[in-house]
Amino acid sequence: MEKTVLRFALALAGALLLPAAGMAKPAAPAPWWAHAVIYEIYPRSFQDSNGDGVGDLNGVTARLDYLKSLGVDAIWLTPFYPSPNADFGYDVADYTNVAPEYGTLADWDRLVTAARQRGIRVLVDFVLNHSSSEHPWFKAARSSRTDPKRDWYVWRDPAPDGGPPTNWQSIFGGSAWTLDPTSGQYYYHVFLPQQPDLNWRNPHVVRAMHDVMRFWLRRGASGFRLDATPYLFEDPAWPQDPDPATGAPVGLKPYNSGLPDNHRIMRGLRTIVDQCPDGCTLLGENAISTIQDLAKVYGARHDEINLPMNFLYSGVKTLDAQTFKARIDDAHTRLNGAPPVLFFSNHDTSRQATRLGDGVHTDPIARLLAAMTLTLRGTALVYYGEELGMTDLPKDLLAATPLSPTRKVADNRDPERSPMQWTAAPNAGFTSGAPWLPVHPAAAGSNVALQQADPGSLWHWYRSLIALRHDNAAVRDGAYVPLDSGNPTVLAYARQDASGHGVLVVLNMSDAPQAARISGWVGAAPVPAHVMLASPLQPAPNIADPVLAPFAVQITAFNPRLDGSLNPR
Ligand code: GLC
Ligand code: CA
Repeated sequence: MEKTVLRFALALAGALLLPAAGMAKPAAPAPWWAHAVIYEIYPRSFQDSNGDGVGDLNGVTARLDYLKSLGVDAIWLTPFYPSPNADFGYDVADYTNVAPEYGTLADWDRLVTAARQRGIRVLVDFVLNHSSSEHPWFKAARSSRTDPKRDWYVWRDPAPDGGPPTNWQSIFGGSAWTLDPTSGQYYYHVFLPQQPDLNWRNPHVVRAMHDVMRFWLRRGASGFRLDATPYLFEDPAWPQDPDPATGAPVGLKPYNSGLPDNHRIMRGLRTIVDQCPDGCTLLGENAISTIQDLAKVYGARHDEINLPMNFLYSGVKTLDAQTFKARIDDAHTRLNGAPPVLFFSNHDTSRQATRLGDGVHTDPIARLLAAMTLTLRGTALVYYGEELGMTDLPKDLLAATPLSPTRKVADNRDPERSPMQWTAAPNAGFTSGAPWLPVHPAAAGSNVALQQADPGSLWHWYRSLIALRHDNAAVRDGAYVPLDSGNPTVLAYARQDASGHGVLVVLNMSDAPQAARISGWVGAAPVPAHVMLASPLQPAPNIADPVLAPFAVQITAFNPRLDGSLNPR
């Protein structure tokens, strides 16, 4: 009773504090995740602590001071669950444990506690669409058609000719169906046959997966990276694709991804992280192809995935100022104010220095990509080693490396998963044993030790950008102001806080010197510019008409303010 009265009193007090109509509502401070730098760690490749050649949780703990010196807010650990490793941990055999090769639950506890002491949060990779075929749930399900767990997975009778129920292909190639000879039915897997899809229509599955989330939150996780979120439901009519009658391919997407029920499940997951006292979050992998698709992933009321990754930005294939401008404008204007999630690289895609570097200006290009991602609004993801400019492993080196018990399968994503380059020591300081994947030959000349000792290194550039993002209110939370909009080679924008203080970012996306024109100042054009960060180093530029060297970056403070509207050339 007393509690009810108190709650009513608080509600009333809250109502009295509400601004009158027409008055500006004081902006609530953005939650940590809305402007964070999240560092993705592939634990297998980050730091080995016991000499078996496989990175592990204790290795991550040993490197927390490194992560703190870089300045990241959170780490996302890709899966470390017990797993037969058909897809290196994305085939989970036990959702509430740590694989022996990565350590123990006690190691996890130590890691998360030590991270917290350094102000670093930890996100767990939650593989929700499928388990491993070795998970006890699936073993029970396949044991008989009447097993209570049978319906936890997706089963269908064979087609009349005994073949798969539909002609759907898995994302990893081959049929999306595998026959279980014991029970005479096929099970569905959008990925490998060793990754059977869970049946999210079954409320027991939903409950069990919610329990998994609660388990990790209780053990100190600050949220989850959600794996392969679009594939939880399939069209119950199971249409053929391509249509056998016409041979016309539909593209499986309308049938196997983004079905309406997905939203209900995501809202359920969100409810769980929202109960976290200090703000937990969902970072989501998705399969969007338009900005409208991406907007929907946040949820109609921003009540689904907090941070859906923007694959439209990461997927830009060439350094083209107009293409980037269009993607960035969209991210700022067509996501209903939600924070964009910007990144270039991850464990599934060729590293950004390999993909977008030109072999001649790769270092300035790496600086430009980092500057762009880290000075835009929203949340930035950094894949381990990007801060060193790590590149993909050469394919011929991989081809010449025999498989081993720790690398049972060659994966076309191995090139971007090579061990972190710590020092010039053998195996780059990653392991005292034989590394599960070869160390990149570039490690002797490019590693943490060398780059930390060189104030002009890419590592220091990243560190300075992350510090700018933390310390400068405009870069952290300010509005995005596109500038010099028609410029074909220079991308320019400002980040500006409510008082008009801001930071101007000008990026030359070409291999020739280029000029930009920054207009739209309120009052007199400001001079001189205060350079915050520049690559290459240069004397104070003219802030209104800067001229930039090939692939140069200029980040300058300005005041008075820009008028905030589009500034056509
Ligand atoms: C996601 C992961 C990828 C994995 C797949 C299946 O795309 O990022 O590494 O292979 O899901 O779980
Ligand atoms: Ca190890």
